[in-house]
Amino acid sequence: MDYLHIKGSSKLKGSIEISGAKNASLPLIAMSILAKNTVIIKNLPSVADIKTLLKLLTNLGAKCNFEDEHVAVDTSSINETKATYDIVKTMRASILVLGPLLTRFGHCEVSLPGGCAIGQRPIDLHLKALEQMGAEIDIRAGYIEARAPQGLHGCEIIFDKITVTGTANIVMAAALAHGETSIINAAREPEVVQLCEVLANSGVEIEGIGTAVLKIKGSDGKLLEIDEFEIIPDRIEAGTYLCAGAITNSELTINKAEPKHLDSVLAKLEEMGFCLTIEDKSITIHPIDKPIKPVKIVTQEYPAFPTDMQAQFMALATQAEGVSIIEERLFENRFMHVSELQRMGADISLNGHTATINGKSKLTGADVMATDLRASSALVLAALIAEGETDIHRIYHLDRGYDALEKKLKAVGAQVERLKEKA
Ligand code: UD1
Repeated sequence: MDYLHIKGSSKLKGSIEISGAKNASLPLIAMSILAKNTVIIKNLPSVADIKTLLKLLTNLGAKCNFEDEHVAVDTSSINETKATYDIVKTMRASILVLGPLLTRFGHCEVSLPGGCAIGQRPIDLHLKALEQMGAEIDIRAGYIEARAPQGLHGCEIIFDKITVTGTANIVMAAALAHGETSIINAAREPEVVQLCEVLANSGVEIEGIGTAVLKIKGSDGKLLEIDEFEIIPDRIEAGTYLCAGAITNSELTINKAEPKHLDSVLAKLEEMGFCLTIEDKSITIHPIDKPIKPVKIVTQEYPAFPTDMQAQFMALATQAEGVSIIEERLFENRFMHVSELQRMGADISLNGHTATINGKSKLTGADVMATDLRASSALVLAALIAEGETDIHRIYHLDRGYDALEKKLKAVGAQVERLKEKA
């Protein structure tokens, strides 16, 4: 198993290129199940979650050829519709094959994802919506068994809560269904928008893209002809590197980014006193000569502040002069990084869903443990400015979602190395 060894207190300088968005790639790879042709997807990040989903599709009989940031997925050879526990347990987003498999083949089995580090994360809304579309669903021996032998039919679905993968699953199911599906209270995340746009470019009539009400006209079971497309930039990776610039008080540019997907994150950096130069596809963060200002953050669905940036801003808030408050509204247990940041010297107290960060704290290097994907990146940020050396263990969490993190940071001057744990 690998770990990261980071020597703190170095300034960063230069530019980092942002990879394609993991959370856009996953539904779009699952979407290839709806295609009659081989789907070419460009600008994929080289991260473990993408490889996991491609492995899942390969196990079902699909042919996936992943090289140099692009993949060709041919799902015409799928001869199995069971997504097994061994894969689903490693990545909850495997649930994204449920809608496409069911709508194309009329039956499938997908292992229940189970719990995860950041909370319970149920999938009841996915299942309820598919049942409304005519699916019969049983939970047996840890598997979702879904059947719709005559295909799914369109209907009105009102999501009780906004769900990102839930919206993606139902959009894909609706694309091949009979009749029109309306999704009320749909997720508006850029990753969902891209899924809708690619489907719309493939001939699926979709109204309301980017709004909370989507109307999708199904193809009556006809498979789609999907043209080659490129994944949008990863807004969370971009936000993480901007936080790296901020916490080290360095000048850092991120390129190949999409600034308009980052409005809420950029607004918080500005509130903390940072100065940003925003161009079409790049953002530069500049060093400041005043103390960092404390901040109040509430995580919510897009376009509000993303839960996937909460941990990184908590690391940054440890360096602000005064009291910052971070309220986590989406996941009940997404404060796993708190105890690790405390071990490095951060002054953070937790009360239910709210963290109070008392800054500025002098952080010192320590052995810390990555607990989930974004929590891990917060530890990297803290390590960049900690006095001394930090070893971050269990970085397989980071590898799930950050493409070449240590290479990108090293190239801008961070002292970071990937090492092997002693057996
Ligand atoms: C996606 C993202 C994840 C991000 C999250 C919130 C992917 C692959 N993952 O996760 O990085 O942190 O959105 O922006 O895109 N819920 C239910 N029942 C359901 C579904 C969800 O109660 O059936 C609840 C969840 O427990 C959570 C909230 O709804 O409290 C939002 O979850 P959801 O948007 O579904 O998150 P994911 O799609 O799993």
